[in-house]
Amino acid sequence: MCGIIGYCGPRRAAPLLIEGLRRMEYRGYDSAGICLGAPGGLALIKTAGKVKALAEKVPADLEGNCGIGHTRWATHGLVNEQNAHPHTDIQKRFALVHNGIIENYLSLKQELQAEGFVFQSETDSEVLVALLTGLYRGDLEKAVKEALGRVEGTYGLACLCIDEPGLIVGARNGSPLVVGIGDGEMFLASDYNAMIAHTRQVVYCEDGEVITLTASGFRTTDLANRRIEKSIDHIDGTGAEAEKAGFPTFMEKEICEQPESVDRAMRGRLSRETGSAVLGGLNMSARELRSVGRIRILSAGTSYYAALAACYMIESLARIPSTAELASEVRYANPLVEPDTLFFVISQSGETADTLFALRELKRKGARVLGVCNVVGSTIAREADGGIYIHAGPEIAVASTKAFTSTLTAFLLFALSMARSRDLSLKAGLALIDELSAVPGKIQSLLDRRQDLDLLAQKYLWAGNFLYLGRGINYPLALEGALKLKEISYIHAEGTSSAEMKHGPIALINESFPTVMILPQDSLRGKNISNLKEIKARQGKVIALATAGDEEISSLADDVFFIPPAEELLNPLLAAVPLQLFAYYLARRLGRNVDQPRNLAKSVTVE
Ligand code: AGP
Ligand code: GLU
Repeated sequence: MCGIIGYCGPRRAAPLLIEGLRRMEYRGYDSAGICLGAPGGLALIKTAGKVKALAEKVPADLEGNCGIGHTRWATHGLVNEQNAHPHTDIQKRFALVHNGIIENYLSLKQELQAEGFVFQSETDSEVLVALLTGLYRGDLEKAVKEALGRVEGTYGLACLCIDEPGLIVGARNGSPLVVGIGDGEMFLASDYNAMIAHTRQVVYCEDGEVITLTASGFRTTDLANRRIEKSIDHIDGTGAEAEKAGFPTFMEKEICEQPESVDRAMRGRLSRETGSAVLGGLNMSARELRSVGRIRILSAGTSYYAALAACYMIESLARIPSTAELASEVRYANPLVEPDTLFFVISQSGETADTLFALRELKRKGARVLGVCNVVGSTIAREADGGIYIHAGPEIAVASTKAFTSTLTAFLLFALSMARSRDLSLKAGLALIDELSAVPGKIQSLLDRRQDLDLLAQKYLWAGNFLYLGRGINYPLALEGALKLKEISYIHAEGTSSAEMKHGPIALINESFPTVMILPQDSLRGKNISNLKEIKARQGKVIALATAGDEEISSLADDVFFIPPAEELLNPLLAAVPLQLFAYYLARRLGRNVDQPRNLAKSVTVE
């Protein structure tokens, strides 16, 4: 979601704050701002719009070595300059940035207004500023703790006070915050990407912690003033992974990285000796894994569609009953935690609030919860009992692509290892390993033909709606294909099971409502063909993803894109790529901002 950045040190803060905000742009936002302790008082610069526009408003010679910045993803109040953060009081003594939602803001606001505080925005966050002005007695850290004692909700925040130059106080409850330790300078951010160019030494803040930061160091305490000792983590990578590397967009780069990212998800984890996969991070003994009677996978968005496909993989290979559920639903459903159930949460970012809170609810009930995450050191990765890192590398485009295929790969490995400890033969295990090893090459062959998908996108540019159909393990792919298209092109699309179409969605079909069908040569091919014919009988256009060599589909569908033949459970890894590219090219041809589509955030850290 939004990004917070803070800097204290010997350098000029403004360019560092802007650079930090730029590096967090991928998280999704609608307005931006910075505030720093400048010689004449607090300098506040805000804009509704992009960081680039903010940067243009910042005077090149703006002085000040300590400041905070923010990219906002509005939850309360319109997207405009007034509501952009940082928020200050009228006298400009305090400045504050906040990520999250203050749930009791309305009652607090009424009370503070009655006491005479003049609000300047419609945001919930501003009540924090109002509380600080009333509670401040010369000690910002103390005032922040007292203020937080009065609020309910989630926050990552950072604030400054004109009377304590060179000091930033931050706090976390539900929204991420990381301290960066530089050489004589300190950073605070929602995401280590914001400061990776300056330091690799980071400290992850936990909920309930307050961070007090100066150029020379930081200390962590809780709301009751107890000192908390923190350990320092080292971040790998150069930050260069987060550059476009010659591609026009991050999304195209990330789609094209899938041969390597899928390979990385498998690297060092396949054993030809045992015909199985080795997943060290699960933190479970063979005996514990053997006694798992049920698997429940919780997640949101694209990760939820990966979970649906993962269930097919686990059930069909390991014969363990598995269900995929929306984390946001499970959290409030008073979930049943049975002793032989193993829970997974999937989250690319590892920060999705719905998923994180579901994880916590399950852990509170004593469940064992494993995480499947991309971002190393993210909150979900740290709080899970173990899990699998998918190692897809930074995913910057808001629409998830390579994390989807890497998550599917990780679950194929998990399903294989569970299956091998049950009924799958060594021979069948080895055959699956061979198939898996061939996937990166097959993805590359799809990418090599991506121009064909651009042409297809051009051909269907007229369509205002799309139906996506798939069945079995490709049903979740239909959902994911439709999500990709609507997210980045804003074209209405819906996905369903090919079989379900006749129970309702078929009413939509006519010559101007095309259907994308995932129709590989698998056990459901015949059924899918019947559905295709039902669409054609109603003048619907059909674009089919079929298995290379399946010429019959060419004669039935209006357009076909062929994917290489593969074992049935691996088809989603291949079908995902043309679905992503079709959505991508349509969106590009419509002139959309594919990396940062409207209204969306990369990491949804509010409920
Ligand atoms: C995917 O394209 C989305 N933007 C979104 O649905 C995303 O998958 C969802 O918010 C979950 O994110 P996570 O995997 O980081 O938890
Ligand atoms: N709730 C706050 C607002 O609407 C913060 C939103 C955010 O996380 O960016 O301003």
